[in-house]
Amino acid sequence: MGFPQQRFRRFRRTGRLREMVRETTLDPGDFIAPLFVKEGLARPVEIDAMPGQHQHTVGSLVESCGALAELGVPAVMLFGIPAHKDAEGSSAWDPNGIVQEALRAVRAELGDGLVLVADLCLCEYTDHGHCGVVRGRAVDNDATLDAYARIAVSYAEAGADWVGPSGMMDGQVGAVRRALDAGGHSEVTVLAYAAKYASAFYGPFRQAAESRPQFGDRRGYQLDPGNADEAVREVKADIDEGADIVMVKPALPYLDVLGRVKAAFGVPTAAYQVSGEYAMLKAASARGWLQEEPAMLEVLLAIRRAGADLILTYFARDAAERLRRG
Ligand code: PBG
Repeated sequence: MGFPQQRFRRFRRTGRLREMVRETTLDPGDFIAPLFVKEGLARPVEIDAMPGQHQHTVGSLVESCGALAELGVPAVMLFGIPAHKDAEGSSAWDPNGIVQEALRAVRAELGDGLVLVADLCLCEYTDHGHCGVVRGRAVDNDATLDAYARIAVSYAEAGADWVGPSGMMDGQVGAVRRALDAGGHSEVTVLAYAAKYASAFYGPFRQAAESRPQFGDRRGYQLDPGNADEAVREVKADIDEGADIVMVKPALPYLDVLGRVKAAFGVPTAAYQVSGEYAMLKAASARGWLQEEPAMLEVLLAIRRAGADLILTYFARDAAERLRRG
């Protein structure tokens, strides 16, 4: 059947018609909001390169979590900035560490009203800023796994529903899964940063999380941007090790990878729209070069269309508010 019998424009004539045949939709329930909480902070501090995002105090974090839950956003991902950094990153598994404290405070206020996800990495906690234990100038993969296992149990004990190992060490999902199970936390879910690329789009995050590497870069452990087959193999390895949800990160520059991962495995799949993706849209909108709301919604929809069941996004609150308004 061809033109003139086939007229695609029949469905494009009105908003109602377009809605009736829309294949992909957006809902506040699709979002996970990443939030930063800093130990010893007197008041929230806006992050220069991420307008509208803050380093939170525990108090302002709890408030933000309440607002998100109210809007129908089901989950938050917590990143901690400790007062004390050392070579091992020992604040990460301190039972009174900042993330542990934040988990207990949000839980006390909101109960089961929000799924609490704890990002699990060392870069915010080490004085060298790398995601693992450093030997010489390189990160020691297997020594790092022991630290991740300890952190996972500590977060679970503080009440995390999910943990998100993000350091890209080989074997990290298995190490975390085994430690959780051995510690009596078999119900804690592992959201694996499975295909995480060595990306230039993490810059604003490193400012927010105070986690810039003090020497070298992360190309020794994160995926090479040229590789998609390898990403699919990484994801498979994480699923085999027990990942419940797999993530592709960043999102927009890697939609092809996201599509392949969802098609290949059909497991719950998340995409992380990272700090640089957020900053780009914010900066262009601030200059009047883009219209923020439609651009935000179009990108989020594209990430869903490509295969994401869940989107980690700094736009969670704005997008949920916008969707609520209809
Ligand atoms: C590392 C980590 C990174 C992000 C989250 N966890 C990136 C990195 O510094 O390599 C980036 C998130 C973002 O840019 O929004 N553990």
